[in-house]
Amino acid sequence: MAKTGRVLFVCTGNTCRSPMAAALFRHLVSEEWSRELGGLEVASAGTAALEGMPASPEAVAVMARRGLDLSAHRARRLLPEMVREANWVLTMTEAQRSEVLRLVPEAGGHVFLLKYFPPGEDEPGPEHEVGDPVGKSEEVYEQVARELEQALRRVAGYLAELDCLGGGGVRVAVGADHGGFPLKKGLIEVLRQQDAEILDFGTDSEEACDYPDLALPVARAVAEGRADWGLLICGTGIGMSMVANKVPGVRAALCHDPYSARMAREHNDANVLCLGARVIGPGLAEEVLRSFMTARFAGGRHARRVDKLRAWEASRGTGGPAGPPVGGQAPG
Ligand code: RB5
Repeated sequence: MAKTGRVLFVCTGNTCRSPMAAALFRHLVSEEWSRELGGLEVASAGTAALEGMPASPEAVAVMARRGLDLSAHRARRLLPEMVREANWVLTMTEAQRSEVLRLVPEAGGHVFLLKYFPPGEDEPGPEHEVGDPVGKSEEVYEQVARELEQALRRVAGYLAELDCLGGGGVRVAVGADHGGFPLKKGLIEVLRQQDAEILDFGTDSEEACDYPDLALPVARAVAEGRADWGLLICGTGIGMSMVANKVPGVRAALCHDPYSARMAREHNDANVLCLGARVIGPGLAEEVLRSFMTARFAGGRHARRVDKLRAWEASRGTGGPAGPPVGGQAPG
């Protein structure tokens, strides 16, 4: 099933780089990735756009060569809600990324530099910026378009391969105790907007209950493959994560910032997200959830590490060694 979600391209004036990126990305999806990405909404905006400005004539000309019509495009000024509603915000430069984060500081988990997406572990450099062609020749615009095409191909490949925790058809097991209940409803709504199927294990009121009674069914649903991943919420998230991590096959991560949520997926292949409703507000919780849903396990050396954990779990089940498996220390 095609993944759903919103991709927002951001530049400064929204008259050349970001509208070109949006047009090229739509085109790429319809030509090559419609089965995987046909459900994505694609838009663009500018951090300092003058509302209603048309695309620059050079951008229109360069897109026309590809059969794409930018003549009806009108610039839009970037608003905080556009950032909040998008699943991936892709900027042309680091300065624009900083400006987006100045508008919505908690959005760090889903705002990326287009040419540095998916982000690596090093810092991005000048080679990851898409330079501003404004005032330059049509040839420079053509070069920018080619640069964009290359970067967009990488973005599409990455998004298409996401074992997408947030895509359509994904089943999410959700549970909260009385401390987490106030946050649960809103986050279920966020998941539904992503077309996720919800297995709601309760609780359904603020009447006191015991977090293990909610954490265990959710963790077991994930471990047994009845759910693709789980979301557990209590007052602090601590009790939920302790219980869930007792269930073999579950890697529950207690995260209260978007960076940790993304890393929990990329490095630890976490399959349960735990949140503390008394620790973070609903806006940040939503950002954390979005980061978790849109990140992908990076594999490689991280797979080796997760495999050691799996081996330990397996050996315990068969009466194996009493200690964790020992292996060579790997750098990195
Ligand atoms: C309930 O008061 C609280 O202890 C629980 O929600 C959670 O924080 C446990 O870790």
